[in-house]
Amino acid sequence: MGKVIRFGVSMEEKLLKVFDRFIEKEGYKNRSEAIRDIIRKEFVDEEWEKGSTVAGGIMIVYDHHGRELVQKIMDIQHDFHEVIISTQHVHMDHHNCLEIIVVKGRADAIRKIYNLLKSLKGVKYASLSRATTGRNF
Ligand code: NI
Repeated sequence: MGKVIRFGVSMEEKLLKVFDRFIEKEGYKNRSEAIRDIIRKEFVDEEWEKGSTVAGGIMIVYDHHGRELVQKIMDIQHDFHEVIISTQHVHMDHHNCLEIIVVKGRADAIRKIYNLLKSLKGVKYASLSRATTGRNF
């Protein structure tokens, strides 16, 4: 972490009350910690919008009995092997598999993988968690 600089923040009382409730609910130790997280989140979103090098996780749930579906999921992952860091496969029950695909690379490539996977027939759930490589802040 670089040099820490203190600065004052002015805020309407009503907004501050809402903010303090949020801090308590989220378990932050103080306002500074919460403000830092909120600002970082904004910059992460910006990194994704700019198409920079980003990191994240794609989670999908599907029924492995669909052999064609399993093959398609595999094909997509091989097509994007350069941005896929690892895949964790969990056999949730007799039918359902959960996969967590950790990705790092260009935001547009990651978005493409996510869109391809989520639009496959038989994928019951898909989510993309947007993180950052943390290089810029
Ligand atoms: Ni499985």
